[in-house]
Amino acid sequence: MLQINDITVDFGGVRAVDQVSFVLKKGELLGLIGPNGAGKTTLMRVITGSVTPSLGTVRLEDRILNKLPSYQRIRLGIGLSQQIVSPFRSMTVLENVAFVAGYHKTKNPIASLFKVNRSPENEEAKRLLNMVGIEEVASSSPSNLPLGYLKRLELARALALKPKLLLLDEPLAGLNQVEAVQLSDTLWELNRKGQTIILIEHNLSEVIRICHRLVVIDNGRKIGEGEPHMVMNDADVQSAYLG
Ligand SMILES: Nc1ncnc2c1ncn2[C@@H]1O[C@H](COP(=O)(O)OP(=O)(O)OP(=O)(O)O)[C@@H](O)[C@H]1O
Ligand SMILES: [Mg+2]
Repeated sequence: MLQINDITVDFGGVRAVDQVSFVLKKGELLGLIGPNGAGKTTLMRVITGSVTPSLGTVRLEDRILNKLPSYQRIRLGIGLSQQIVSPFRSMTVLENVAFVAGYHKTKNPIASLFKVNRSPENEEAKRLLNMVGIEEVASSSPSNLPLGYLKRLELARALALKPKLLLLDEPLAGLNQVEAVQLSDTLWELNRKGQTIILIEHNLSEVIRICHRLVVIDNGRKIGEGEPHMVMNDADVQSAYLG
């Protein structure tokens, strides 16, 4: 489904990503891991189009994405849930998801703002809130909710775009271990129903538990790839984490 080929990113003098290549198959749940500052988020931004690589190509199915702006990549099926949650604070939780669901469906986003009948979007939003387990706060404002709920809201908003490929940047960060296990179970279940996922995470026990395969980045370079337990036993991977 996705082919990352020799991606290199320079920020001024800093080489944040250095010739990273990997492929992702349809239906996979791939963990992208590595220490702080390794280049994981930067690599994800290359896929979504908010960072331009100095070298390399990103291919989704049979299309090279490099020259496409982010909104066209979203249309092609790339969905993102970001490291920092950013709901619309003036809307309820349900409206946040319904808005994205409606935006996705219309060819004219401005017209969608004036649409009166939002029931199909509201139904879809309820279904997604139920799937991520926060339907009981549908009519609350995001401003009043703890981080565990906001992380789930962020996931529901990403799913509202019906992405072929879902990119998740630290969805478990800031959750306690009980919440982290619950959200990981949700991700595992989504994947089991066919959702292809790249998961960036520092919660390694959950990554190892749910991912099919891992790619490990350190200092911008790929240092490991393969079955989770095998990768975590690798000497280079262990020394990258121990510093
Ligand atoms: N916009 C930017 N301008 C300059 N340097 C940047 C920028 N974004 C990231 N960097 C640098 O690129 C490197 C990789 O950062 P990145 O955020 O991709 O790491 P990460 O693996 O996501 O880390 P973390 O696990 O802490 O989120 C770091 O050295 C970072 O300081
Ligand atoms: Mg990051």
